[in-house]
Amino acid sequence: MTVLNIGVIGCGSIAKHRHLPEYANEENVKIAAVCDIVEGRAAEMAETYGAKPYVDYKGLLQDPSIDAVSVCLPNSLHAPVSIAALDAGKHVLCEKPMATSKQEAEDMITAAERNGKKLMIAHNQRFVKSHQKAKQLIESGELGKIYSFRTTFGHGGPEGWSADGKDSWFFDRERAFIGAMGDLGVHKSDLIRYLLGEEIKEVAAMVETSAKENTDVDDNAVCVLKTESGTIGTLTASWSYVADEDNSTIIYGEKGILRLEDDPVNSLVAQYANGDVVKYELGQIQSNDEGGQTSSHVIENFVNCIVSNRPSPVSGEEGARSLDVILAALEANETKSVVTTNLVVQR
Ligand SMILES: NC(=O)c1ccc[n+]([C@@H]2O[C@H](COP(=O)([O-])OP(=O)(O)OC[C@H]3O[C@@H](n4cnc5c(N)ncnc54)[C@H](O)[C@@H]3O)[C@@H](O)[C@H]2O)c1
Repeated sequence: MTVLNIGVIGCGSIAKHRHLPEYANEENVKIAAVCDIVEGRAAEMAETYGAKPYVDYKGLLQDPSIDAVSVCLPNSLHAPVSIAALDAGKHVLCEKPMATSKQEAEDMITAAERNGKKLMIAHNQRFVKSHQKAKQLIESGELGKIYSFRTTFGHGGPEGWSADGKDSWFFDRERAFIGAMGDLGVHKSDLIRYLLGEEIKEVAAMVETSAKENTDVDDNAVCVLKTESGTIGTLTASWSYVADEDNSTIIYGEKGILRLEDDPVNSLVAQYANGDVVKYELGQIQSNDEGGQTSSHVIENFVNCIVSNRPSPVSGEEGARSLDVILAALEANETKSVVTTNLVVQR
């Protein structure tokens, strides 16, 4: 078995807490190089993992022995760095939101196809056990027709998480392009598309900056979504849930209700119309706080798709469609109207 040489670009929190330790847990993977614009961060991770440090990602991409990279950078750098990596012949795992526009997302997809390389977007909510079980129950028809849903992701904000604390790029429109909607909302548009197995067609939204000072990005959003088949529901994303994180989703079907990550012990509770209640203990979702799932399973899935030459488990197109819902919500808020999603991925 050949060893896969990995480069991790960006040595902030997501790289330090998830990508690097999860690559280190993989057999047949060598963390060959790390990069951060802050020299000390690259040096620290290089020392921990026995990798070569870079301060300029272009230097890392020139190393022909590197097979694949993780792009763990501020949002505005996702597309340019991913495209440069794909053009340098590397497979790419890019953090979410994949890009800052439909055009950028499309360019990433084209770059992967042009170079015959894998592109995966790190939508880790798809690998959470309660979410996978819920998808199975919905697909099996056990809930009957799905009428409605409500999905939310909110916490007190990224200042306790980002390597740059309260001065983080997360609060700067130039580098982040969006706030809680890009940090958290896009996880939930991706989750709802994954769970229901269909596209969101219509979006209405109110998007505010109300909780944080000194920022020009959104921190509080309430969206109303309608799927192709007519299921309606709400998606909320917020940095104003100050006391605790809420990462829950509720699915309302003809024959029952599914409560996901709504109870601290039972990560999935199925309540049926006939009175039956089934509680599943499937382990907690991974969160920015201590505890929860120990692996996001993102890295393992990325490595496996390269090694076994299978399609990317969360393709660029999937990432683009989940992003498109968020872009539609921003437009709906701006124009005070209901926006129809219309992403066409060119082939
Ligand atoms: N999948 C998830 O659940 C999840 C969770 C948190 C963050 N993220 C995503 O991960 C990405 C990174 O977020 P984070 O939380 O690690 O942020 P962070 O602020 O902790 O780290 C970002 C790092 O990028 C470095 N950087 C900035 N510009 C650079 C450049 N030009 N070249 C090299 N390094 C550069 C910074 O110095 C910093 O160390 C974001 O897109 C974010 O949305 C995903």
